[in-house]
Amino acid sequence: MKRRDFMKSTLGGALGASLSGVPLAALAGTATTHIESEDINSRSSLKDDYDLHFLAVGDWGRNGADHQVQVAQQMGRWASENPNDFIISTGDNFYPSGVVSEHDPLWHYSFENIYTDFSLQWDWYPILGNHDYKSDPDAQVRYSNISRRWKMPARYYSKTFKLREGAEVLMAFIDTNPLIPEFYQNKEYGPHVTGQQPEKQLAWLDNLLATSNATWKIVVGHHPIYTAGPRTENYDTLAVRKVLEPILEKNKIPLYLSGHEHSMQHLKVANKSFHQLISGSGSEITPVKQGLPYSKFEASTYGFMYFAVKADLLRVLCIDHEGKIVYNTTITPQA
Ligand SMILES: [Fe+2]
Repeated sequence: MKRRDFMKSTLGGALGASLSGVPLAALAGTATTHIESEDINSRSSLKDDYDLHFLAVGDWGRNGADHQVQVAQQMGRWASENPNDFIISTGDNFYPSGVVSEHDPLWHYSFENIYTDFSLQWDWYPILGNHDYKSDPDAQVRYSNISRRWKMPARYYSKTFKLREGAEVLMAFIDTNPLIPEFYQNKEYGPHVTGQQPEKQLAWLDNLLATSNATWKIVVGHHPIYTAGPRTENYDTLAVRKVLEPILEKNKIPLYLSGHEHSMQHLKVANKSFHQLISGSGSEITPVKQGLPYSKFEASTYGFMYFAVKADLLRVLCIDHEGKIVYNTTITPQA
């Protein structure tokens, strides 16, 4: 028996049992006797003025330590009480050194057993951080075959999301690790960046952004292009800036989202098209600098970001490990 038939007959039975004496004709045409959709849940009633919603958390996998559990709990609470469609991980998914395989116990201790809320069982779109490169980065791609919610088809990939009235959001999930020349000589990163052909990824990104008609084009990579954290002038920041900034500028991209710095930041360099957001405090936090001219917000605070998008506006909230909104701003598609 199909579920809706079962409900129908159960409803009929219950009415018959409890309403004996009431003329059945009085009920005719008023009682709902079937459900059109099989997918009835309380989440579908959570709606607001925006079409697409997602969380972004970064730099998190510490077996629950250093506030990872508290941030995860607040993510679950937020996604239960507000509309949410998916979760982005901005990389450094497993400290200290990535995972060795898709069966590594860290999948359980740092991911599955931490982000347990039902509201977090929807799709996750992760990217790779530098710590993920200390073991097997492709194990995180392969985990997509084991977990329903972990959606990482390749080391870099793109996804398009629909908004109302034909508008779209294009997201490019990139791998910044092979874009850093120093990594090729590094004892830990070297073996895993070798053969990655960064120029091929950059050409793919440029072509993807240039040929898309999406209303919103968002690029997500682990390393920031600008930062008010300890790595303002670090070799990795400068390396990704050198190759990514021209592509973002040429294609007038409004938003680059990263992790890597263990803080939450909103930076906007004058005369550049893109806003730089950093969501990298899913567990540990590191210091931030005050007073940089291009910083709109920087906080050394555990937490995650929440995004709500419609055709003409994107809202960003920074939410800390106690559930407090510590920053709230909006961005337009033509930044
Ligand atoms: Fe990192």
